[in-house]
Amino acid sequence: MTATILPTPADLSITPRDRRFGRETAAPRLWHGGRVEATAIYNALSTTFPAGEAFFVESVRAFRKDAPPKLAEEIKGFTTQEAIHSREHDAFNKRATHSGYDLSRLEAQVEKRLAVTRGKPPVVSLGATMALEHFTAILAHQLLANPRHLDGAESETADLWRWHAVEEIEHKGVAYDTWLHATRHWTRWKRWKVKAKVMLYVTRNFVVDRTAGALELMRQDGVTGLSAWTRLLWYLWVRPGMFRKIAGAWMKFFLPGFHPWNEDDRHLLGRYAAIASGSEAKRKVRRAA
Ligand SMILES: [Fe+2]
Ligand SMILES: [Fe+2]
Repeated sequence: MTATILPTPADLSITPRDRRFGRETAAPRLWHGGRVEATAIYNALSTTFPAGEAFFVESVRAFRKDAPPKLAEEIKGFTTQEAIHSREHDAFNKRATHSGYDLSRLEAQVEKRLAVTRGKPPVVSLGATMALEHFTAILAHQLLANPRHLDGAESETADLWRWHAVEEIEHKGVAYDTWLHATRHWTRWKRWKVKAKVMLYVTRNFVVDRTAGALELMRQDGVTGLSAWTRLLWYLWVRPGMFRKIAGAWMKFFLPGFHPWNEDDRHLLGRYAAIASGSEAKRKVRRAA
């Protein structure tokens, strides 16, 4: 067996931050600046997390006992972070339901997608996780790098998304390294072919499903037809244009020698730490008042 050289930084720390959001203050139904399309797309994304991240945890954990010690330790950090994300997004989704949204169609669609891997070899689920984790990491990078994405959002809810984004960046290489280890006997060509196919497949489903999910939630807010499509597509692709802005990072996945840590974006974590300590201080003042 040849040793695999991994570019994951040696001093990387994957630190689960066991935080809770939105338990004390009620965010408005349209928590994202009163904007229907902005609230809808983030709510649609959140709907995928409880089941989706539980799936990621299972998929990666299945390879832990076979992993070298450093990777096994990172898998532990990854699974703990994802389990807490599931918990917080489950709570977030319950608040959305409480404010009147019916998420059942969106949740059924997530279940349908996850069911595709059932009964298939564990490396299939790991491959899907590896691709989706890259997707999540580039969304997280963009969310933290460009404050415009959360402009106008209710502050504690914005905090939830930033906290999630920080941890997604920290553990962005774990599923990838686990997949590299699990497929270490494959040829480079086979690896590339499989990962490219998987990425194209999950990206197509991600874009189609989140768009449909957001349109469904906008319908529940009374925005339908051409107006709904225009507002949503403008928001996603033009301004602030999250999907357009991650396109370059998405394409890098297909380059030879790609690894999530080819770009070390841990500087974004420091910016979050400053914001988080500020908002934590504000909460303490509120509680004490
Ligand atoms: Fe997560
Ligand atoms: Fe993740």
